[in-house]
Amino acid sequence: MSHVAVVLAAGQGTRMKSELPKVLHEVAGRPMVSWVLEAVQATKPERLVVVVGHGADSVIDTLPEGVEWCIQEHRNGTGHATQIALDALGGVDGLDVLVMPGDTPLITGDALQELLDHHEERAAGVTMLTAELADPTGYGRVVRDADGVTAIVEHRDADDETRTIREINAGMYVFDGDTLAGDLASLRPENAQSELYLTDVIGVVAGRGQLVSAVVVPEEVVAGINTHEQLAQASAVARRRILSGLMLEGVSVVDPEHTYIDAGVEIAAGAVIHPGCHLSGATRVAAGAIVGPDVFAEDSVIGTGSRVWYSVLRGADVGANCDVGPYASLRPGAVLRSDAKAGTFVELKNAVVGEGAKVPHLSYMGDATVGAGANVGAGSITCNYDGYEKNVTEIGEGAFIGSSTMLVAPVTVGDGAVTGAGSVITNDVPAGDLGLERSQQRNIEGYAARRAERYRRTRSETDKEQ
Ligand code: UD1
Ligand code: MG
Repeated sequence: MSHVAVVLAAGQGTRMKSELPKVLHEVAGRPMVSWVLEAVQATKPERLVVVVGHGADSVIDTLPEGVEWCIQEHRNGTGHATQIALDALGGVDGLDVLVMPGDTPLITGDALQELLDHHEERAAGVTMLTAELADPTGYGRVVRDADGVTAIVEHRDADDETRTIREINAGMYVFDGDTLAGDLASLRPENAQSELYLTDVIGVVAGRGQLVSAVVVPEEVVAGINTHEQLAQASAVARRRILSGLMLEGVSVVDPEHTYIDAGVEIAAGAVIHPGCHLSGATRVAAGAIVGPDVFAEDSVIGTGSRVWYSVLRGADVGANCDVGPYASLRPGAVLRSDAKAGTFVELKNAVVGEGAKVPHLSYMGDATVGAGANVGAGSITCNYDGYEKNVTEIGEGAFIGSSTMLVAPVTVGDGAVTGAGSVITNDVPAGDLGLERSQQRNIEGYAARRAERYRRTRSETDKEQ
């Protein structure tokens, strides 16, 4: 049977003690609610509605194309939120209705499909996901008799005996669309929180003599996030899943315990990831690349066969067979063409380093182009900022920038040109020429011996005085 889906995400998440709406807290680089939506979308619902309330605007901003939303003005409970979603859907007769919380990022499309299939096979009134927990504190408890589930009792409303039940309600259900609206209308806020509980629908359906079925899944799949500690635990699980997937596809992850790869990062088979790497955003790593130890890369590309270690890349594009680090900082717009190098303590910003060009040590290249095959000597920098504007430096193909050259932009060093070490280059250097800006060296003959003699004399006079 076809189904529609509802995700409840209007709550504040008081226990996170945060301005950010709970469902927007990130798990492996992606908001919790986005993980839930991905799992729900994998079941191909006819329509998908998210109920928003607290921080509605920012939650709506994260929703992907094709996902609808409706607003719950007052948080009157999960039953009330579901009612609002049904109003938005405008009738769900003849459909199954999958209802989900927005704070369970570890749920998978497979588990939800199993829930939907199970519901259809048994022609149940309601089917729910449950789990057996060592510590069920806080969750709604699943009460059963010989025929099946008879009710869910919230922790706050449960007596001591009910609290010993370890099977918990995951908050994920498939309801029969023909009866759901009527059952929601029958709910009363007679509980510890004076809210309309969606969980009370279970008792209503069972009371009518319809089957309430349950699919028991591992705790890991249904864990709800209410605190930062639970968020960190869920993030660890999500990261482990990402790494397992990558390793299955042929990526070598040297130490998965100390590797942090966010959802959405693409790594090709044959790449090697050493410990201490944090790869996030739209980062892509090509085959044969060796990344790490200790690389932070956000929205960056690392090309085939390149080696990047102990470095920070943000919005950088490293081509094939490049060499980056240790201790390089590649900022937005840093581009290395193939076989280029950005070595030790090198910072690049909005700078293109041409094919085979090298910036090996202690340099800053900002708003610059370094031509193919050029070499930038140690300690050379572009003085790109005059206090008001950013200015451009162009270094031609095959140019040789002497160590500690200050390139005061805007300035151009032509193809094959050379700058003398220590020069402050303020004027363009034509192709093939030498740009030299420093005073003539003077050598003073025999100076060292005279200096030593002077020192010895001063010393012996001082000794006599004492
Ligand atoms: C709920 C269930 C509980 C289950 C647990 C699983 C009820 C009454 N209880 O409890 O049986 O074990 O989930 O994690 O349903 N929400 C709204 N509007 C509201 C209230 C909540 O949209 O008025 C949303 C929240 O944003 C959240 C979801 O519904 O995404 C669940 O609400 P939450 O307050 O976390 O319920 P729990 O106490 O966890
Ligand atoms: Mg919850």
